Amino acid sequence: MRVVVVRSQQELDACLMIRHEVFIVEQRVPEDLEVDEWDQLCTDVTHVLMYDDLQYPVATARLKPYQVDSVKIQRVAVRRSHRRQGYGRLIMRALEDIAKDNHYRKIILDAQCHAQKFYEQLYYQKSGDRFVEAGIEHIHMEKMLKRTE
Ligand code: COA
Repeated sequence: MRVVVVRSQQELDACLMIRHEVFIVEQRVPEDLEVDEWDQLCTDVTHVLMYDDLQYPVATARLKPYQVDSVKIQRVAVRRSHRRQGYGRLIMRALEDIAKDNHYRKIILDAQCHAQKFYEQLYYQKSGDRFVEAGIEHIHMEKMLKRTE
């Protein structure tokens, strides 16, 4: 398993391919909501791509600046064939390390409700009420970052 920060168009295309498979095909999220202006190399957003041991791209996510001390994790996607094998947890840890290295204190995200437990296991706490976005129930979650955990 290996996580890289996306630096090339080829890597970004691999992220978008995984997201297409997971969000647009599997979850039926409309394409014009799934892909947006942040899905380019020259933005403030950090995309990460994860490979399995056979160097096959299997997971992705992105980290977007939110407020002065906080960042937002979005588009966490693991290929169906590779779920429940620890990829999701590892990609989240990689994003948290990037956030810490950049001196952010808090991570926020809007979790799909079915994945709430996944995030709770990583110490994210829910805040507020459920809401519907792209036809899917979500809940806002947050985590304060510590230097040591
Ligand atoms: N519900 C409850 N627990 C879950 C879960 C789920 N949907 N998915 C994972 N977990 C648990 C695992 O059992 C594991 O716990 P354990 O160590 O006690 O066994 C822990 O969370 C980490 O699991 P991991 O294998 O790292 O997760 P994953 O690689 O399967 O990735 C998702 C989890 C949610 C990212 C993945 O299922 C996915 O991509 N889903 C489709 C896209 C999606 O919904 N993304 C989230 C958008 S908010």
